[in-house]
Amino acid sequence: SSVSCAAIRGRAVTFRANPFEVPPSESLLVEDDALIVMKDGRISAFGPYDATRVVLPEGVVPVHYKDCLISAGFIDTHVHYPQLPVIAAWGEQLLEWLESYVFPAEAAFADEAVARDTAKRFLAELMRCGTTTAAVYCTSHPQSVDAFFEAAERLGARMIAGKVLMDRNAPDALRDTVQRGYDESSALIDRWHGKSRQLYAVTPRFAITSTPEQLEAAGDLLRRDASLFMQTHLAENLNEVETVRRLFPDRRSYLDVYDHAGLVRPRSVFGHAIHVDEAELCRCHETGAALSHCPSSNLFLGSGAFRLFDALDSKRPVRVGLGSDVGAGTSLSQLRTMGEAYKVAQMTGRRLHVAQALWLATAGAARSLELDDRIGVIAPGMEADLCVLDPQATPLLQYRASRCESIEDLLFALTILGDDRCIRATWVGGACVHHLERDGGES
Ligand code: GUN
Ligand code: ZN
Repeated sequence: SSVSCAAIRGRAVTFRANPFEVPPSESLLVEDDALIVMKDGRISAFGPYDATRVVLPEGVVPVHYKDCLISAGFIDTHVHYPQLPVIAAWGEQLLEWLESYVFPAEAAFADEAVARDTAKRFLAELMRCGTTTAAVYCTSHPQSVDAFFEAAERLGARMIAGKVLMDRNAPDALRDTVQRGYDESSALIDRWHGKSRQLYAVTPRFAITSTPEQLEAAGDLLRRDASLFMQTHLAENLNEVETVRRLFPDRRSYLDVYDHAGLVRPRSVFGHAIHVDEAELCRCHETGAALSHCPSSNLFLGSGAFRLFDALDSKRPVRVGLGSDVGAGTSLSQLRTMGEAYKVAQMTGRRLHVAQALWLATAGAARSLELDDRIGVIAPGMEADLCVLDPQATPLLQYRASRCESIEDLLFALTILGDDRCIRATWVGGACVHHLERDGGES
């Protein structure tokens, strides 16, 4: 038949509220024995197994994930697929790391075969990590964008991506021009934005590698369509911030460089934002722009500690999601990223509750991207993107899980001890795209 239907059963955990607005434990919606029915790519029913089984269509047998936790698929709000080959590159901080490792690696994406291979491997890794949506930087080569969207479309995953714009302070092989960057982005928007589940992000790399004219051109592209995304980097590293100050002496702040060009709006996603001031946070709040917190990257490059609770201050909360920022980030696993976010919060003297961490990787991330009407929670009508977590995946987790007395404690142990080994299965648009066989169980 033309109607595709599937169902899964297990303990489900999702959100009924924002854990930064209500007590974190009260934000969670936990269904100990849930049935989730998926039809034509969406969740058609979600509730207690006994009450919900009556709506199961004839012949649909639920996949039962015993002892597992079913969550909405993870969302990675900042990641670079062409940097997969240079993950774990030794020694440098941001600007030198870009020169030494990133630009040479990205130059290889002039070759469409490299782009296709890497895109395929990257998406397979995301699925292995339970990440079902990501905001992805490609390279300045338009073929790197085609390769990525083609692979994402084949998979059926909702992805956001864009061609990197860079018209200065980068190697010849990676530089575009204002006109070329505009024309290539424009053609990619026409080809991909809104095609199946794919969404386009206008992607100026950062203020150092774009002239003011190129940033203006990016603003022109965005003004054509309010549903477009914008992604860039903001105030990640102190040397970077100082360089931006020198390049844009007339602007009040780093964010103002982007604001002046019309790049600060809903569906704008600023990576890092470690070294920002109160005025910049206020401006993000009032415009609906989002920040992507990338803790594993910030630790790896020694960039600094993002002040998450300042950003989320209830007197002017800024939208925030979690990002892996691979290749500066050290893992594509959002479980790992949540664990690193906890540690960075500790360094700023704040306690990140696991419900808050999970929210930043699911419902909060979806909100930050204005995709919360489609993804980020388990509920009827939402797109059927789910991941299944296995708290028994490693001997140490199994041991630690046996001492857990609450769902919060179990989830927390997963974020500190877990990674891709704990992703039992990943479902995208109602289809299983990844699953791990549980081994015989070590003693
Ligand atoms: N700033 C400008 N480009 C990049 C990049 O590729 N990665 C990170 N982490 N920061 C950047
Ligand atoms: Zn980045």
